[in-house]
Amino acid sequence: MSEASGVDGVDVGWEEARAANLANWEERVPLHVEGYGIEAFAEDPAHVSTVVRDDLPYLLPHLPDASLAGLELCHLQCHIGTDTVSLARAGARVTGVDFSPAALRAAASLAETLGIDARWIETDVLDSRAAVDAELGPESCFDVVYTSIGTITWLRDLGTWARQIAALLKPGGVFYIRDSHPMLFTLDERRDDLTVAFRYFGDGRPMQWDDASTYVGEGTVQATRTYDYPHSLSEVVTVLLEAGLTLEAMHEGRTLPWQFAPRMIQRADGEYEWPGDEADRVPCTFTLVARKPA
Ligand SMILES: C[S@@+](CC[C@H](N)C(=O)[O-])C[C@H]1O[C@@H](n2cnc3c(N)ncnc32)[C@H](O)[C@@H]1O
Repeated sequence: MSEASGVDGVDVGWEEARAANLANWEERVPLHVEGYGIEAFAEDPAHVSTVVRDDLPYLLPHLPDASLAGLELCHLQCHIGTDTVSLARAGARVTGVDFSPAALRAAASLAETLGIDARWIETDVLDSRAAVDAELGPESCFDVVYTSIGTITWLRDLGTWARQIAALLKPGGVFYIRDSHPMLFTLDERRDDLTVAFRYFGDGRPMQWDDASTYVGEGTVQATRTYDYPHSLSEVVTVLLEAGLTLEAMHEGRTLPWQFAPRMIQRADGEYEWPGDEADRVPCTFTLVARKPA
C-alpha cells in the first residue's frame, strides 16, 4: 500500500513536472504489464477491462445505434492498451495516444498478440491534434474521443486539453471522460476519516508526491517523484464548453476501479468503495459526455 507523502501547491513548472511524471510512468509500465491481469484478454476473446465494462453503459446511449461498431475512436492517455483493446472488442477502430514510449510498446504488443488492428501515437496529450496530423493526416478525425481513470490529474492546462479534443472530433462526434472525482483528491488517503486535507480548486500549482509504489502489485520504481494538478468539476465542464462542445450527460459514482485508500473495500465486481455509509458522503468518480455540434 502507498506510503505517499504529498505537498500541496508547489512552485514547479510544467516542463519539470511533466518530465518527472514521464520518468515515473515509464518505470510503472513493466509493473502494470505484470499486475493488470492482461492474460485474461488472451484466455477469453470476450474479455474487456473493468474500466471499459463500467464505461460502456454511459457511453453507448450517445452513439448511433448505441454501438461502437465501425466508429473511429481516439483513446487519450491509453497507457498499456488494456482499455483500448477493450474498446476495439466493443467494435471501435482504435487509435491510442500516450506520452510514454514503454506504455505504447506494451499496448502494441498486447494488440498484436490479440490480433487487434490498432494505431499507437506517442505524444503529449496536449499536442495530440498535431501528432495525429503527422501520423494519420490532417483529415483524420474521430467519431469518439475517450479518456478514462487517471487522466486530467496529470495535466496542468485543461484549456489546451479541451481544444485538442474538439479538434480531434468529427462534427457530431462524442467525447467521453470518467475519472477520479476532484473531491476525492482533497482527502488524505492515510487518514481514518474523510477529512478534507488538500485543495479542491486548482491554481496551476501541482501537488508533489514521493512514492515508490504503484496502484497494482508490490513492485517499486526509482523515479518516485510525481506532480499532479487539482481541477474542480466546474473547471472541467467549463473548458469543454469553451472549446465548443455541448454537455449531454453527467454522472457521479460511489466506486473506483483502483484502491485510493487502504480503508476502501473491494466489492465482488472488483470495484473499491468507502466502508459503510461513508460511500454516500463523497463521490469517487465523475463522468461527462459531451458532443461537438454537427
Ligand atoms: C492511469 S494511466 C491511464 C489510465 C487507464 N485507465 C489505464 O489504467 O490503463 C495514465 C496514463 O497517462 C499517461 N500520461 C500522463 N501524462 C501524460 C501527458 N501529458 N500526455 C500523454 N500521456 C500522459 C501516462 O503515460 C499513463 O499511461
